[in-house]
Amino acid sequence: MPTKLTINGKPQSVSSSPDTPLLWVLRDELGMTGTKFGCGRGLCGSCTVLANGEAIRSCSTALEKVAGKRIVTIEGLSPDGRHPLQRAWMAENVPQCGYCQAGQIMSAAGLLLKTKKPTDDQIDDAMGGNLCRCGTYMRIRRAIHRAAEEV
Ligand code: FES
Ligand code: FES
Repeated sequence: MPTKLTINGKPQSVSSSPDTPLLWVLRDELGMTGTKFGCGRGLCGSCTVLANGEAIRSCSTALEKVAGKRIVTIEGLSPDGRHPLQRAWMAENVPQCGYCQAGQIMSAAGLLLKTKKPTDDQIDDAMGGNLCRCGTYMRIRRAIHRAAEEV
């Protein structure tokens, strides 16, 4: 039986089996490749998306767990790539190789939904599970503060 959920504001009915990780529903069934595969075990954060405004690891969240929920991926954060976080990321030149960055931005989006003006400690807490092999952490923190001024 198809599973219904909303992805980036659009109702979707997907046919992957209920135990399929959401990441593979997005990438393989729906062809949305903005969400990245890193560790596949919930340890790196590169696959982060929002489910009802909560940052979740899509690699380790079964489709059945998000049935009926509102999912937002990096593709849906803004219609034109001009979300305050995306603009702040550009202004601070955050990405290096870029691989982790969709997940970083989605975790930051989840943080700003809950905490309008996060402190450094709150940023570190919220972003601690998002690893960056290029070590862009200080620029990420600056970009979150910059975006928080606008949100
Ligand atoms: S790929 Fe999901 S947490 Fe690493
Ligand atoms: S920018 Fe390269 S892993 Fe984060």
